[in-house]
Order: sequence, then structure tokens, then C-alpha cells
Amino acid sequence: MQLLRERKSAREFSGEKISLPVLSNLLWAAFGVTRSDGRRTAPSARNWQETVIYVASADGLFLYDAKAHSLLPILKEDVRSLTGTQAYAKEAAVDLIYVADYARAVNSSMEEKDLWSACDTGFIAQNVYLYCTSEGLNTVVRGLIDKAALAGAMRLRPDQKIILAQSVGYPKKSS
Ligand SMILES: Cc1cc2nc3c(=O)[nH]c(=O)nc-3n(C[C@H](O)[C@H](O)[C@H](O)COP(=O)(O)O)c2cc1C
Repeated sequence: MQLLRERKSAREFSGEKISLPVLSNLLWAAFGVTRSDGRRTAPSARNWQETVIYVASADGLFLYDAKAHSLLPILKEDVRSLTGTQAYAKEAAVDLIYVADYARAVNSSMEEKDLWSACDTGFIAQNVYLYCTSEGLNTVVRGLIDKAALAGAMRLRPDQKIILAQSVGYPKKSS
């Protein structure tokens, strides 16, 4: 009840980095594996598990491999500024990028792919909100993204769709 009451969007970030253990917990809370059959902390339509989480930080771009619970390096460049059209995106310690892999959304119409991928991403984003609330981290989920520019930088395939991004970082200390 307390986490739900305190959950909020916050767009101010200090420059403080997030430690690896905290990032590890953040990603597990987001969409980690919870069961021996590979099911996760968030539901997904038809158990497609089509949402893939990329992590943009000052150190580069990484892909969350939920099965191995590890980060795979994708790019050395800092692409945080491309994850949103608002200035705060580049100030967050990490920007999560939620990408729906439509190749996993088998036997469905484009309307179903679009709707269910959006729903599935929403559950993950809320997990991140609640984890951040528990950990004293600021976060905000974001639709305002130049998706073509970001997809180009990430070298995504045409059937990999950027759904949302979510900034995460420590709040600025009040003086
Ligand atoms: C699908 C979605 C897209 C959003 N896109 C943005 C965005 O592009 N930029 C932003 O600053 N906030 C964005 N938000 C955050 C909302 O503005 C915020 O949730 C709303 O103002 C309510 O505030 P609260 O989260 O503190 O309750 C988005 C939220 C959702 C659910």
C-alpha cells in the first residue's frame, strides 16, 4: 500500500551512478525470470515475452538477457540523449528502452501486435516504478521519443518496435 501511494513520475536526476547490484535488482523486478518454465515478473500476452529491455548508460548500450540474468554489450556509445526528446533523458543514470520483438508475436494481426505489446510493456514499466519507489530512485516512463533516430542508432530490425523508454536515477539532493 505504501509503495502504491508513493509511486510517482519524477524527472530530476543527480549525476550519481546506479551500482550493479541495484541495476541487477531493477532489471529482475522489471522482467526477470521467476519460474522454472521461464515465466517472468510481468505477464505477457500469450506468453510471447516479446518485450526486450535495453539499458542505455554513460558506459554504452546493453541488452538484458533475462534467462541468464546478465547484460550483453551492444554499443559503446552513450545513446541516453536519443531515448527521449526531453532534456532530462540524458541526465538519468540509465534509460531503459522497451523494444517489442514482433518476430515473437506469432500468429497475430498487426493490431494485436501493437495493442498487446503496448499492454505488456506497461506491466514492466509499472514494476520498474514500484522497484524505484522502494529503492529511493526517481523514474519516469516516456513515449516522447524520436523512434526512427533511436532505432537507427540501436540498429534495430524493422520488426523490432520501440514502445517506450523509462529514465531511472537518483534524485538531486535537496540543499
Ligand atoms: C504511456 C505513457 C507515456 C508517457 N510519456 C511521457 C513522456 O513522453 N514524457 C514525460 O515526461 N512523461 C511521460 N509519461 C508520464 C506521465 O506524464 C505521468 O505518468 C503522468 O503525468 C501522471 O503522473 P504520475 O506518474 O506521477 O502519477 C508517460 C506516461 C505513460 C503511461
